[in-house]
Amino acid sequence: MTRDADDEDTPETAPPHGLARRLTNYGDRDFARYLRRSFAQSTGLSRDLMGRPVIGIAQTASGFNNCHRAVPELVEAVKRGVLAAGGLPLEFPTISLGEVFLDPTSLMFRNLMSIDTEEMVRAQPMDAVVLVGGCDKTVPAQLMGAASADVPAIQLVTGPMLPMPWRGERLGACTDCRRFWARYRAGEIDAADIDAVEGNLATTAGTCAVMGTASTMACIAEALGMSLPQTAAIPAVHADRLRAAEASGREAVAMLARGGPTPSKIITPESVENAITVLLALGGSTNAVLHLIAIAGRRGITVDLHRFNALSERTPVLVDLKPTGRHYLADFHAAGGMQALLWELRDLLHLDCTSVTGTTLRERLATPPAWVDRDVIRARDAPVDPVGGLVALFGTLAPRGAIFKRSAADARLFEREGRVVLFDSLEDLAARIDAPDLDVTADDFLVMRNAGPASPTGMPEAGYLPIPKKLARAGVKDMVRISDARMSGTAYGTVVLHVAPDAASGGPLAAVRDGDRVRLSVRERRLDLLVSPDEIARRMAGHRAPVFPRRGYRALYAREVLQADRGADFAFLAGTDDL
Ligand code: FES
Repeated sequence: MTRDADDEDTPETAPPHGLARRLTNYGDRDFARYLRRSFAQSTGLSRDLMGRPVIGIAQTASGFNNCHRAVPELVEAVKRGVLAAGGLPLEFPTISLGEVFLDPTSLMFRNLMSIDTEEMVRAQPMDAVVLVGGCDKTVPAQLMGAASADVPAIQLVTGPMLPMPWRGERLGACTDCRRFWARYRAGEIDAADIDAVEGNLATTAGTCAVMGTASTMACIAEALGMSLPQTAAIPAVHADRLRAAEASGREAVAMLARGGPTPSKIITPESVENAITVLLALGGSTNAVLHLIAIAGRRGITVDLHRFNALSERTPVLVDLKPTGRHYLADFHAAGGMQALLWELRDLLHLDCTSVTGTTLRERLATPPAWVDRDVIRARDAPVDPVGGLVALFGTLAPRGAIFKRSAADARLFEREGRVVLFDSLEDLAARIDAPDLDVTADDFLVMRNAGPASPTGMPEAGYLPIPKKLARAGVKDMVRISDARMSGTAYGTVVLHVAPDAASGGPLAAVRDGDRVRLSVRERRLDLLVSPDEIARRMAGHRAPVFPRRGYRALYAREVLQADRGADFAFLAGTDDL
């Protein structure tokens, strides 16, 4: 390789592109260029290719991430698209987060992956990047990193698994996982049955087959404008998924010719509101609230949970998908997918928002979809639910808010006062929830704490507290459950989550005692601990912060993690200072 075209032909004032970007600092820029060219020679690429704009491809295949099994094939398809459009594709690895393979929980490492993504996108010489992700935390981490790096970026998701038939019904991770586990706990099926189910829940490449966190975040990425149109829900094993990958590669090169837009032009207060509207219309995952707050926060955009409630009041649930409805993601895509949903919501959206294609939502929605399966995606005048799937609650138990998925809950439990049955930790929950002598009735409120972001547990998906075995066996299917934890997007029930501030940081949840009374009013958006402020203050006098390791990433996590109403991002990563 000799000096590339950029060095020789580009006027002094033009910024360098391709491999000439982001030089290693030796205090001698000519030496840095010479050395980079020398080492790049060893890749065996031709001079033609080395002179092209570079499209990075964030590669997240991992033996510990089954949901990313198809990533290598997607990366190859992205490369095809980049090459065909005249760019040079260079893949690079980042951390990958497999939801069920991380201790204590994947959320603890989302911010680490976002740092990895941001810094590698910024430090390496790429003109644009295609981010290949899919499993729950990988897409939020990539979007957070891209928002901070602010290099032109396209999010490509792996796509959902296909549900598969088993004994006369279709099964798909992971709503069915939970349904069968609840039946097993209730004694309705035996060990042999649950063993047989286990091998039939997640049978193809891709992410969970329902509108869980991964699929919700895929739709949110598209609603924000960070993915190509109509790519969020293409099944992982469908040939269109590979075509979407190739198209993403082509588009990344086209973005350079257009001069962007960069994430800072795409992720705006208006596009974030669009994403919230889509989230609400999907009856999407509670986790998506946390992630969207964190993504927006990287661009200095605050998501006000009171505004969130206002949007929820005007946004109907339009899709009939598990975990709250009947269908799977593959059905959603076949029914018309995001294009059909956005069309239905068009009067509620900010149509001037732009996207990675350089076109606005108004241009995208210029014509109605050719066909929509109304069994899966409803028209506005026949919604699944007239109001949004999620609301924020506030009150003396959650001064900075809590999240409640009303579309997944039993409406008969919405206006309730109950006696607290308290679990002080996940360990306490595991030790006592099934104890035959546990003093609990179906009218009680199960409350768990020390599972929020400031706890050493890292805010796991443990808020879906199991119904105590003795109640489950008596036929109880749902109870009011409250915690500072999260819940899987594939779960359902009358579950109040993300109570903020959390117990570990000294929120009122830390003052709750067994036998206290709590009032839940979804109508009033309230969650109140019926204990006097003086008594709460007295109980909190001896509160101690949890002990974290003093070294390594967990020490950084303990020092920097924000509360759920700030997306559990790190304080030093939020905002746009010093970018
Ligand atoms: Fe990866 Fe559900 S476990 S998307």
